[in-house]
Amino acid sequence: MEVFTTKDALKAHLSAFKTNDKTIGFVPTMGALHDGHLALIERSKRTTDITVCSIFVNPTQFNDPADLEKYPRPIEKDLALLQSADCDILFLPTVEEIYPPRDEAWLFDLGKLDEIWEGAKRPGHYQGVTQVVYKLFDIVKPSIAFFGQKDFQQCMVIQYMVDKLRLPLRIAVVDTVRDPDGLAKSSRNVRLSPSGRQQALSLSKALFMVKERMEEGMTPLQAKEEAQHFLLETKGIELEYFALCNPSDLSEINQEQQYIRPLVAILAAWVDGVRLIDNILL
Ligand code: PAF
Repeated sequence: MEVFTTKDALKAHLSAFKTNDKTIGFVPTMGALHDGHLALIERSKRTTDITVCSIFVNPTQFNDPADLEKYPRPIEKDLALLQSADCDILFLPTVEEIYPPRDEAWLFDLGKLDEIWEGAKRPGHYQGVTQVVYKLFDIVKPSIAFFGQKDFQQCMVIQYMVDKLRLPLRIAVVDTVRDPDGLAKSSRNVRLSPSGRQQALSLSKALFMVKERMEEGMTPLQAKEEAQHFLLETKGIELEYFALCNPSDLSEINQEQQYIRPLVAILAAWVDGVRLIDNILL
């Protein structure tokens, strides 16, 4: 695996592939890699000629400075994981490389997506995400970029930006990877204590409960009510939101709309001082 720390060196290296009509797969990450990231790398390796992964803890997408501070940065472990996944190229820039002094301000109109769910709970978060992803796309110029379904709204935001700016690439969304007991893989899971991790399991349990109750014949809204009740009763879970939405725009469904398919159940909660999100398509 070749490691690049400057955009100019990476661009120069990748231009040779571009002129040879090779497809570039891109997996942007903030490091603290886990099986979810490795699934993205694996999909990229299967579908493109060359796979570029970036590790960059992007300061502009953290609305809480303490969260940025606490974000795990196990770089040696990440390097080993990328080697074992046979990743071709790692882009590992510094903050100054991505945000040079007197960098242009960024304000991208994301419409409702910036105002609902994660957008509402984490003001400015998607501005930071689109800012850095736009910059990374501009450097890597990928044919396909890979994102995990766990960040469902982020996938929608990125697709929205790609469509609006007519960026010449495809976005591939890869299924959420879970631990055998159901917990969605997340870089934040390492911050959970053993008892916190146990409590966090209720999140995926609640999502699977909606699916099961629907299979047993409950309406989606009844099933969601039951799962929400379960979560509200679970010790240690501070629920921020839990909603059944239309996956095309993330609007919350009402009685009449609950029969459209697919639906997506989304949630965010604080567990053991860690903010976790998860979702399931129904
Ligand atoms: O999903 C993430 O890890 C980040 O939001 C991303 C897409 C790498 C941008 O910093």
